[in-house]
Amino acid sequence: DLLLQFRKKELLFKILVIGDFGVGKTSIIRRYADGTFSSSYKITIGADFAIKSISWDKNTQINIQLWDIAGHERFGSLTGVYYRYAVAAAIVFDLTRPETFRSVEKWLLDLRRKVHLPGSHPVPVVILANKGDITIATLPNEIVNFCEKYNILAWFITSAKDNVHIDEAMLTLINAAVDNH
Ligand code: GTP
Ligand code: MG
Repeated sequence: DLLLQFRKKELLFKILVIGDFGVGKTSIIRRYADGTFSSSYKITIGADFAIKSISWDKNTQINIQLWDIAGHERFGSLTGVYYRYAVAAAIVFDLTRPETFRSVEKWLLDLRRKVHLPGSHPVPVVILANKGDITIATLPNEIVNFCEKYNILAWFITSAKDNVHIDEAMLTLINAAVDNH
């Protein structure tokens, strides 16, 4: 079929957004996928997802499926189901609540226990220190060591509200997923 030769190759990447309740996972996904932000808090029940389609190069279209996992699901038996077929993850904490950084390790270990990529690549992960528009005074000083210890790709101070570093963080994950593909 001649037409097929001109059709773009389509890739689908499932990317997880995890972290404690209220850190801004849903807000980050909304910001990235449809460019909106709401200051009212509507708790996520279970999981949800959004899709963003990116024209990667002239031959490739990438569809990003962003999975929004409810913060309270942390040790729920369902996370394994939600994590299935994921190729990358963003772990989010809230700069206004330092205790949410201490949970990052638990989220990471749970993720690495449950997600195994073909070819035994470690799951690419970025850490997002969110709500940077409110404060960065509470940035944990151990974050650099943490990222080194656990082989984290990168970390970013983000703001879903002001649209800071969200695109950069997602692009880091997409690049890693393309490399692993
Ligand atoms: P769960 O669904 O319960 O796991 O929470 P979540 O991580 O999805 O948090 P959500 O995105 O619902 O955000 C919680 C609250 O924080 C909401 O009131 C958001 O408006 C607010 N929020 C999220 N991101 C930011 C940000 O970057 N800056 C500010 N100022 N507020 C934010
Ligand atoms: Mg949510």
